[in-house]
Amino acid sequence: MNSEELKRQAAARALEYVQSGMKLGLGTGSTARHFVELLGARVRDGLEVIGVPTSETTRHDAIRCGIRLTTLDEVDRLDLTVDGADEIDPALNLIKGGGGALLREKIVAAASDRMIVIADDTKWVETLGRFPLPIEVIPFGLGATQRAIEKAFVACGVAGELVVRKAKDGHVFVTDGGHWIVDAHLGRIGDAPGLAQSLGLIPGVVEHGLFIGLASVAMLAGSQGIRVVE
Ligand code: 5RP
Repeated sequence: MNSEELKRQAAARALEYVQSGMKLGLGTGSTARHFVELLGARVRDGLEVIGVPTSETTRHDAIRCGIRLTTLDEVDRLDLTVDGADEIDPALNLIKGGGGALLREKIVAAASDRMIVIADDTKWVETLGRFPLPIEVIPFGLGATQRAIEKAFVACGVAGELVVRKAKDGHVFVTDGGHWIVDAHLGRIGDAPGLAQSLGLIPGVVEHGLFIGLASVAMLAGSQGIRVVE
């Protein structure tokens, strides 16, 4: 089974948790897109849900699939968010933001009663950090922000190169919020909660891709089937 089929299987499993009347957070990325497509098919069969998309890309996908949308201004809490991840550790801490949507993804996950992470099992790691950690920053004062980030790394016992993300056309990648992303190549993050806290204190850092304590369940699709980790 190829990786797209595995992602779709994980998405299909998450769909079993969706009930009529739910308010849903809709994630971003190739795995989350499978979920949106499968959800759309259920909506066309009569399932009544309303969704908050975590990116402009997901907004367009959801509209194309016929899913009714709302915003976090119009609804208070969401019942469930289903999203992908770049890495998942045994405590269900995550690295997210490979697709650049981490800010909206974290706002939506934090406004949700539950977050289901869907992925193929290559995303499962013992320790976070092999995937470069996305850090969303304000372009103003980037040098100062990067130096503060490097100081936080030293304090947290990690080190690695910071690379400003580029889009496919070679220009700087700009997020849906109009910010930039620096990807931190750390290799291993021994204390992810500690690093998350330190990065959160830096002026100029809008958000980072460490999702600590937000995910409730992970659905990991592999050649042996789906492993559900809670
Ligand atoms: C986007 C994300 C994605 O969920 C993450 O990058 C995983 O994407 P994919 O399902 O394509 O592997 O965090 O910001």
